[in-house]
Amino acid sequence: MEFTWLSPFICLLLYFQAICSPSLPFPILCPHDQGLALLQIKKSFSTSTSASFVHHELESWKEGTDCCSWNGVECDTETGHVIGLNVSGRMLHGALNSNSTLFSLTHLQTLDLSNNDFSGSHIPSLFSHLLNLTCLNLSSSNVAGQVPSEISLLSKLVFLDLSFNENLVLETTSFTKVVQNLTKLRELSLSTVDMASVALHSLMNLSSSLSSLRLVSCALQGKFPDEIFHRSNLQLLDIEDNKDLTGSLPRFNGSSRLCSCNVMGSNFAFLGNLTQLTRLDLSGNNFNGQIPPSLGILEHLDFLDLSNNNFSGLFPFVVCNLTKLQFLSLSNNKITGIIPSQVGNFSSLNQLYLFENFQGSITAILVFSAFFENIFLGNNLFSGHLSQFQYNSSLKYIDLSSNLLDGPIPSSIANLVNLDSLILASNENLTGEIPFSICKLKYLRILDLSNNRLSGFIPRCLGNFSKSLEIIVLGNNTLEGPIPSSIFNLTNLFIVVLSPNKLIGDIPASICLLKLLEVVDLSNNNLGGSIPRCLENLSNIVLTPDNQVMSSAIGQVRVLSSIIFLDLSNNWLNGTIPSFLFNLSSLLYLYLGNNLLTGHISRLPSRSVMEVIDFSNNMLDGPIPISLFHLPSLRYLFLQNNSLTGRISQFQCHN
Ligand SMILES: *[C@@H]1O[C@H](CO)[C@@H](O)[C@H](O)[C@H]1NC(C)=O
Ligand SMILES: *[C@@H]1O[C@H](CO)[C@@H](O)[C@H](O)[C@H]1NC(C)=O
Ligand SMILES: *[C@@H]1O[C@H](CO)[C@@H](O)[C@H](O)[C@H]1NC(C)=O
Ligand SMILES: *[C@@H]1O[C@H](CO)[C@@H](O)[C@H](O)[C@H]1NC(C)=O
Ligand SMILES: *[C@@H]1O[C@H](CO)[C@@H](O)[C@H](O)[C@H]1NC(C)=O
Ligand SMILES: *[C@@H]1O[C@H](CO)[C@@H](O)[C@H](O)[C@H]1NC(C)=O
Ligand SMILES: *[C@@H]1O[C@H](CO)[C@@H](O)[C@H](O)[C@H]1NC(C)=O
Ligand SMILES: *[C@@H]1O[C@H](CO)[C@@H](O)[C@H](O)[C@H]1NC(C)=O
Ligand SMILES: *[C@@H]1O[C@H](CO)[C@@H](O)[C@H](O)[C@H]1NC(C)=O
Ligand SMILES: *[C@@H]1O[C@H](CO)[C@@H](O)[C@H](O)[C@H]1NC(C)=O
Ligand SMILES: *[C@@H]1O[C@H](CO)[C@@H](O)[C@H](O)[C@H]1NC(C)=O
Ligand SMILES: *[C@@H]1O[C@H](CO)[C@@H](O)[C@H](O)[C@H]1NC(C)=O
Repeated sequence: MEFTWLSPFICLLLYFQAICSPSLPFPILCPHDQGLALLQIKKSFSTSTSASFVHHELESWKEGTDCCSWNGVECDTETGHVIGLNVSGRMLHGALNSNSTLFSLTHLQTLDLSNNDFSGSHIPSLFSHLLNLTCLNLSSSNVAGQVPSEISLLSKLVFLDLSFNENLVLETTSFTKVVQNLTKLRELSLSTVDMASVALHSLMNLSSSLSSLRLVSCALQGKFPDEIFHRSNLQLLDIEDNKDLTGSLPRFNGSSRLCSCNVMGSNFAFLGNLTQLTRLDLSGNNFNGQIPPSLGILEHLDFLDLSNNNFSGLFPFVVCNLTKLQFLSLSNNKITGIIPSQVGNFSSLNQLYLFENFQGSITAILVFSAFFENIFLGNNLFSGHLSQFQYNSSLKYIDLSSNLLDGPIPSSIANLVNLDSLILASNENLTGEIPFSICKLKYLRILDLSNNRLSGFIPRCLGNFSKSLEIIVLGNNTLEGPIPSSIFNLTNLFIVVLSPNKLIGDIPASICLLKLLEVVDLSNNNLGGSIPRCLENLSNIVLTPDNQVMSSAIGQVRVLSSIIFLDLSNNWLNGTIPSFLFNLSSLLYLYLGNNLLTGHISRLPSRSVMEVIDFSNNMLDGPIPISLFHLPSLRYLFLQNNSLTGRISQFQCHN
């Protein structure tokens, strides 16, 4: 059974077992006092600003009706007592006070208060009155302060979730009590609860039936006990992002069968119980040591994230035997060695993240790439040619940036028919032209070939992508020729970076067709001509709230242009600076330095949000408009090396 949905399933079972019971002799009626208590609860959270919404959410809770029929309320089929209350995500707003009638509902077995807003109030110690609780969920409910140690009195708890509450603190004495007394716990989630003071060895006293432990971002400190890894019932362990948590992966043991794994010449044999771990996330901690070959015993593992630690040693060949593994990340460790070609052999692994530190030939990986969807191999020492892309590969995302690849990008790249992102940046010996076949990748969204030694023209056929391409980064190559105007036929393009290269010619007027452009960097080329006038159209087209395009001059409407960053510096652009640039309502950064621009700087509208303006090293003349100094957001202004006149007062400099 898939673990991730196991827990809600069980919770639901507990919750609905009575309702679904086939023998209902006569309708059960809610005891009067418990109905009143529920109405009181509703009332105590109704005074908020979202009151009308709350009424709507709990509208079935009405005086004079049977509370057992109310939304989120469950009664015992025989006694009629309220044994289940689920107000998850009902937008309850207000403090959870200790005088709440909630704590008089002592028959409760399931209580789900998650996804509400209890205004940062403390968790009342009176929860300990609800002694029959098996399921308590306070996740994302904005409770704060110390978790009361009285929680440990709820010794029947099977599910306890206090996760994702900012400013909730669990002290070591409370935790020790919880751990010792909640012997039936199967799922414990305390993610983001501040557990900095908790002594980690107390984790060892956690219930032996524990199957899921989530302690993400809990500020855990010290050494994580090995013993936890050996729990035969544990299916999920997620202790991500505890920077001061150290530890290492132990030698795993326990297997009902004799498993003989020949790993790099040594034989390992295991006897004992099979571990059930399906998901292991240790990322973002300070674990170290090698990844033990015995990891291969975790045969149910489908998710393994060991990234951002200090693991060292060779690539663990044994992952080849984890036949259910779908996700593997070893990024940002100190693991070296080569990646065995067999890694691609198992069909289930489809996400491989191995940023940093690996070496070897890329060929082996590409041969098996047919099995992967995402491979993240950036910042390694992979060498070799990109020659063997498999036909009909399932690859969607390939990142081979910052490696030692050389030679050309082969036209067989077109075989990766499902490719969404192609990132081959920063391989200084990647040479040759951009193959035309790249244009056959009809789903391509992100193309980053920057910081290579690619030459030749930018293929005109890039315009064929029309709908899919969103990001084009081809900067820092030696591309020449004009910018194909077809590039600006890509209606979804929002980032285009072509700097630096050796591109010539004019900036194609088709740039003005792009309504989604946010970042345009064409700087450091040999582009000439003037700044396309048609850009003005972008600032004139406006959208009404109901998305009808109409002419400007109507207030309150959103200007369609979305350009945030425009860098055309270091080219041979001539003509004047078009005043409409100042009307691009989203523009924050404007770099036009080192061109041949002439004429005056026109007045800037005071509503401009620009933060950086660089007009330096041009041939501008006339006075510096005072309005430049009144721009509320301006932080950097470069005007040097022009023929501008006027005075810049001290006041202006301080502004
Ligand atoms: C409570 O109800 C929500 C849906 O409103 C559901 O997702 C959740 O699983 C329920 N909680 C329990 C403990 O059954
Ligand atoms: C419960 O306590 C809160 C704060 O202590 C108080 O504001 C509220 O009036 C009390 N409610 C009742 C019903 O006593
Ligand atoms: C708690 O559960 C026990 C055992 O199921 C039952 O006998 C007892 O009546 C319950 N207590 C309440 C207050 O419902
Ligand atoms: C608690 O509620 C949250 C949000 O509704 C849910 O994601 C989580 O799985 C629940 N916890 C348990 C242990 O059921
Ligand atoms: C553990 O639970 C039992 C029964 O609920 C209770 O009597 C005892 O005081 C609890 N111990 C701690 C340390 O909370
Ligand atoms: C585990 O609990 C027992 C008492 O039940 C206690 O004696 C022991 O010290 C605890 N161990 C840890 C590591 O907290
Ligand atoms: C994987 O397991 C098989 C037997 O199931 C064994 O023959 C092989 O040596 C193992 N390989 C590794 C790398 O552990
Ligand atoms: C193996 O599991 C069984 C049943 O779950 C248990 O009784 C036994 O003690 C376990 N053996 C080991 C070595 O953990
Ligand atoms: C690139 O090629 C040059 C010349 O062959 C070589 O000296 C250099 O080391 C190569 N760079 C890398 C990163 O492989
Ligand atoms: C340009 O690319 C080369 C080769 O990858 C790299 O060494 C250089 O740092 C890059 N320059 C910039 C400005 O990024
Ligand atoms: C841009 O697309 C239009 C049709 O959408 C087409 O007619 C035109 O030729 C294309 N322009 C270029 C330069 O590819
Ligand atoms: C601007 O440059 C273009 C060529 O890049 C040239 O044809 C044109 O005459 C220049 N215009 C001015 C006013 O210098």
